[in-house]
This record gives sequence, structure tokens and C-alpha cells, in this order.
Amino acid sequence: GVETLMRIPPSVLRQHNTREDAWSAFNGKVYNLTAYLPFHPGGEKELMRVAGRDGTKLFGLTHAWVNVDFMLDSCLVGFLVPELSTS
Ligand code: HEM
Repeated sequence: GVETLMRIPPSVLRQHNTREDAWSAFNGKVYNLTAYLPFHPGGEKELMRVAGRDGTKLFGLTHAWVNVDFMLDSCLVGFLVPELSTS
């Protein structure tokens, strides 16, 4: 449920940038891509380019017609939020 989703700043997203633990953000939503990697029609290597970062732009350039929300619904981990300030 939505209550279990996390608020994820870029610094946390960046820590999930490996083949074994790959997260990426698309349109403000953060997905765990790890299980999907071997199934991506464009290949694992292409998908790993956005691991640990916001993939919205690259995704739009390659296939804006693909519905990430629908395809990766079960891989949603949370929402990308601005870096927390200490002030
Ligand atoms: C192809 C899904 C991210 C590069 C595809 C296709 C799907 C897909 C369904 C087949 C599209 C079609 O045939 O019409 C996804 C999902 C992504 C994702 C769900 C996000 C989680 C990316 C990213 C890149 C990328 C970030 C580039 C850095 C490609 C390329 C193809 C492709 C180049 C074409 C492969 C070919 O036709 O030979 N992807 N993709 N994808 N994807 Fe992705």
C-alpha cells in the first residue's frame, strides 16, 4: 500500500546503482529495477545507465510511448523528493 512507500532524496537513490541493487526514478517515482533487468527488451546495459539516478530524460528519448507506471507497478519503492536541508 501507499503507506509503505518511501520518500527518497537523490543522495539515497545514488546508493542503489549496482546490478544487484538498481533503483531509478521516472517521473518522480522511484522503482527497483533489479528483477526487471534481464527482461528489458533494450538490454541490461542500457537500463543500467540510469541506475542510481533520474532516468526520466533518457527514457523519454528512447521510448516515451512505454508505460512505466503500468509495467513496473510492483517494483515501486517510493517518491523522489528534494535533498533534505538541515536549516
Ligand atoms: C526497448 C521498457 C528504460 C533503452 C524497450 C521496450 C520496452 C522497454 C517495453 C520495447 C519497446 C518497443 O519495442 O516498442 C523499459 C522500461 C524501462 C526502460 C520499463 C524503465 C524501467 C530504458 C532506458 C533506456 C532504454 C533508461 C536507455 C538508457 C531501450 C532501447 C530499446 C528499449 C534502446 C530498444 C531496443 C530495440 O528495439 O532493439 N524498453 N525500458 N530503456 N529500451 Fe527500454
